[in-house]
Amino acid sequence: MPVDSVGLSEEPDDDSAPQPENLQDTIRAVLVGTYRSKDGDAGPSFKRGADSCPQIDQPCFLIQSVNLTAFMGVLSQGVTPDTALRLGCFAIDQTALAVADGDRFFQRHAAILGSTGSGKSWTVASILERANSLKHPNILLLDLHGEYASLARNKKDGFAEYFKIAGPGDLKAPGNEILFLPYWLLNREEMLSMLLDRSDNNAPNQATRFTSLVLEGKREFLEKAGRKDVLASFTVDSPVPYELKPLVSALQQDDIAVGTGSSGRDKQGPWHGKLTRFISRLEAKIADRRYGFLFEPPKESTNYEWLQQIAVTFLSTHGKDKSGIKVVDFSEVPSDVLPTVVSVFARILYDVQFWMLAASRTPVCMVCDEAHLYLPVRQDADAASKRALDTFETIAKEGRKYGFSLLVVSQRPSDVSKTILSQCNNFIALRLTNEQDQSAVKSVMPDSMAGIAEVLPLLDIGEAIILGDSILLPSRIKLDKPKATPLSLTKNFWREWAERASDAEAIRAGVESLRRQSRN
Ligand SMILES: Nc1ncnc2c1ncn2[C@@H]1O[C@H](COP(=O)(O)OP(=O)(O)O)[C@@H](O)[C@H]1O
Ligand SMILES: [Mg+2]
Repeated sequence: MPVDSVGLSEEPDDDSAPQPENLQDTIRAVLVGTYRSKDGDAGPSFKRGADSCPQIDQPCFLIQSVNLTAFMGVLSQGVTPDTALRLGCFAIDQTALAVADGDRFFQRHAAILGSTGSGKSWTVASILERANSLKHPNILLLDLHGEYASLARNKKDGFAEYFKIAGPGDLKAPGNEILFLPYWLLNREEMLSMLLDRSDNNAPNQATRFTSLVLEGKREFLEKAGRKDVLASFTVDSPVPYELKPLVSALQQDDIAVGTGSSGRDKQGPWHGKLTRFISRLEAKIADRRYGFLFEPPKESTNYEWLQQIAVTFLSTHGKDKSGIKVVDFSEVPSDVLPTVVSVFARILYDVQFWMLAASRTPVCMVCDEAHLYLPVRQDADAASKRALDTFETIAKEGRKYGFSLLVVSQRPSDVSKTILSQCNNFIALRLTNEQDQSAVKSVMPDSMAGIAEVLPLLDIGEAIILGDSILLPSRIKLDKPKATPLSLTKNFWREWAERASDAEAIRAGVESLRRQSRN
């Protein structure tokens, strides 16, 4: 840090005013780029990085007013019109548009981080809205609170396809938008993380028996379906349907089975009594209507072709009659299986994308809202979250090669997997008040930008620092408002207390909804 003491000795030596002894003007400079007022035959240009450093004693200027507008214009010009992703305007000059490079923004994962109420969901909505103006966008939004229902096509200014993971109230007569993720999509580890109690002495036995029965069930299904090609190479983890009822009965029989000992007398079978607790846990899950989206899928979901339909629904850019932007509402998924369910959904789609012919792949982005809920720091993760982390960390590390990117959104960056955050190349950092979260953001920034983290708590709502390779200069910007806004979950306590009485009937209905586990 260059320290330039103001030349006290150069002051008129008249002793009239006592001079402070160590008055210092300190300036900390970060060389971010090079501006050329003329670049060859072209006009002004700005590029990242500095090939030469300014010398000491050179004059230095503050860019203001017209010059500032012109400079900001140069920044946005760096982005070609067909990759321009408009995010808002610059905070220091609201007439200058802040434009990011849309290719770069999505290419290598991005993150939107900020305290609750800082404007993350609105930012997501406005990015989706921009994407919607393209011909073939392909974005999947994981909506954890059902707040993006207002973006659905049938809503005012809405444009997205809307789906909801079946809640207990949707099981009887599911509409077209209701999505089931049948148990057979889960791989061995995912299923066991939900069903196995690892502290049980018999856990290894239970896992072994369950695995072999699943394998058998899948083989039977493939034989019936006449899929010889798949039969030759499928594994227990392949997404092939199998029947659950026969599997449960087989487990029950094993649990009480009696064999014949060498002396001819009855003897306990190899699994005798070892599966009892596993069976009861499985039966409890099957009977629990909150798990209906897993265990009570409609009949057609056991068709061999069902998975293809699902993949087409979620990986297609669609076109005129349907949007390539899909919102998937996870709001009624029980929190204990949320990581499993989110990860199954992501894994299946990623795997399909992975196995597609490279030449036919079109890029897909998955927006992970409230990522701290299912992508925690690894040390804090339980068995189910660890599986989710495996899936998403793989996507974070490998997804770029297969055109599958993540947009991670969280109010608690310090609680989000470091591996995933550190793979993100672009950040929109909104107001962030918690110190731990600020340092989490700082830790993923380049060192030279650490100073920027200091303004994070001071940002206004809807204001952000954007940095990464999608924008030439890390900048403070005022984000655009979306036309279709996410449903506000923020209550105006004081105003409502002044204006609105509660409704006892609604409270009673709430009790019944709690009992039914459904708001319908
Ligand atoms: N770009 C913006 N401009 C103006 N107000 C905004 C903007 N973004 C958010 N807000 C305000 O902040 C509130 C909370 O925003 P939201 O996106 O739901 O926050 P978060 O998802 O970070 O919790 C919104 O209801 C809106 O009133
Ligand atoms: Mg939000």
